Amino acid sequence: MKVKNICCIGAGYVGGPTMAVIAEKCPHIKVTVVDINESRIAAWNGENFDELPVFEPGLGDIVKKTRGRNLFFSTNVDQAINEAEMIFISVNTPTKTYGKGKGMAADLKYIELCARQIARVSKTDKIVVEKSTLPVRTASAIKSILDNTGNNVQFEILSNPEFLAEGTAVEDLLFPDRVLIGGDNSTDSGQKAIQALVEIYSNWVAKERILTTNVWSSELSKLTANAFLAQRVSSINAMSEICEKTGADVSEVAKAIGMDSRIGSKFLKASVGFGGSCFQKDILNLVYIAKSYGLDQVADYWEQVVIMNDHQKQRFSDNIVSTLYNTVSGKKITFLGWAFKKDTNDTRESAAINVADNLLSERANVSVYDPKVSSKQIYADLDYLGTRSNEENKDLLSVYKDPYEACKDSHGIAILTEWDEFKNYDWKNIYKQMNKPAFVFDGRGILDKDELGSIGFIYYKIGSGD
Ligand code: UDX
Ligand code: ADP
Repeated sequence: MKVKNICCIGAGYVGGPTMAVIAEKCPHIKVTVVDINESRIAAWNGENFDELPVFEPGLGDIVKKTRGRNLFFSTNVDQAINEAEMIFISVNTPTKTYGKGKGMAADLKYIELCARQIARVSKTDKIVVEKSTLPVRTASAIKSILDNTGNNVQFEILSNPEFLAEGTAVEDLLFPDRVLIGGDNSTDSGQKAIQALVEIYSNWVAKERILTTNVWSSELSKLTANAFLAQRVSSINAMSEICEKTGADVSEVAKAIGMDSRIGSKFLKASVGFGGSCFQKDILNLVYIAKSYGLDQVADYWEQVVIMNDHQKQRFSDNIVSTLYNTVSGKKITFLGWAFKKDTNDTRESAAINVADNLLSERANVSVYDPKVSSKQIYADLDYLGTRSNEENKDLLSVYKDPYEACKDSHGIAILTEWDEFKNYDWKNIYKQMNKPAFVFDGRGILDKDELGSIGFIYYKIGSGD
């Protein structure tokens, strides 16, 4: 089966970049990305390719090349579903905020709505591809909805989880370590569907990197990959606290263990805590699944990764308060960075949000500079927590467009995101304009300790005990 038309439901951080790369690599396929969010679609269709709704290095160039050629962004979901032979579901699956599984399970409301819409609209057979990260066995729920509410057309469900990381999405999509496709190999139509998707990726990915498995293995592999990655971060963060107490340096420890080929050097960077839309959500989801099967020890084991992460954020803000003579009330504390990592404008679950919230509760005046995050987003992140009124958040926190202004008259600077530009600031000048003693709390370990020390800063680096 040759796919000529693809529809992707959800024009977010996953759907947008993934479809842009498919469109670039498969000029013979028409790719339509649809979303119910009109302003998001308008932004994807905007004039300025530097201001797409998702900031990713290299993405603007690909969209510029493909948009209007074989890549289209639209709010007409029904039409795109109808035209397509293959439909990717790439909508958000946040942690449930209500009812059973609140705070743990994935909320599948948006997935179900998509499935019902696909069933209602489809007049021809479709291959439905799960792109969003989903609890294991979600495909059977989608299949049941499609088969029971559809117009007697055939649906094949595939799981094709996305492993891209934000900030390197384009690179990850162009040169993936592997592409995973889960499907029903026991039927002829299942095999054909798997093959159709394999063919699409084969346009740019070597065959040996395209893995095919059963659907449940594919769904569970995505959760497992994220759990393992997050676990490494929590493990090194746990060691960072021991380093601080013992005079060791976590970056030296990470280097020493990372050279062991069995351990490997990646994902060993101690930080103020992991963020992003996936790690916490997926682990909590895994914990929920384990509990629902009565696997309490398995659940407790994985939950500890999130507990450790919360602790890391809390102890970072506690350290700021205790170092600043046990009070930050009325003091200006500057945050450099708000995004959950560099090279993205995404702030979901960013450590900065909780650290700011803790400091605001201590009545600090937090000022924030981030090169890519808007002030609207920063206030929305804080307001969402509901710790205090929106007006109080506005009074206590200010957002700056200029980093030097953000640091002026500050008592302490906290590095929350590892943006490269922070390394090249004129730190002498920043020091001159600050209250003394001037502190830097480097939650990412990116600045040069000796240089800052010689300027006069009192420098605290996460995981460094000397
Ligand atoms: C992650 C997975 O890497 C990706 O495969 C999956 O598809 C989605 O979830 P993402 O959340 O975009 O990707 O970014 P990632 O690079 O994994 O970073 C997640 C968080 O961990 C960030 O806050 C980052 O700063 C932090 N991190 C990562 C560390 O603190 N230390 C590290 O060594 C690595
Ligand atoms: P991700 O990081 O998984 O891509 P995002 O939140 O960035 O998540 O994007 C998901 C997108 O899916 C949002 O833009 C949202 O408006 C869209 N969406 C959710 N439900 C539907 C739906 N039923 N039909 C179309 N789009 C939807």
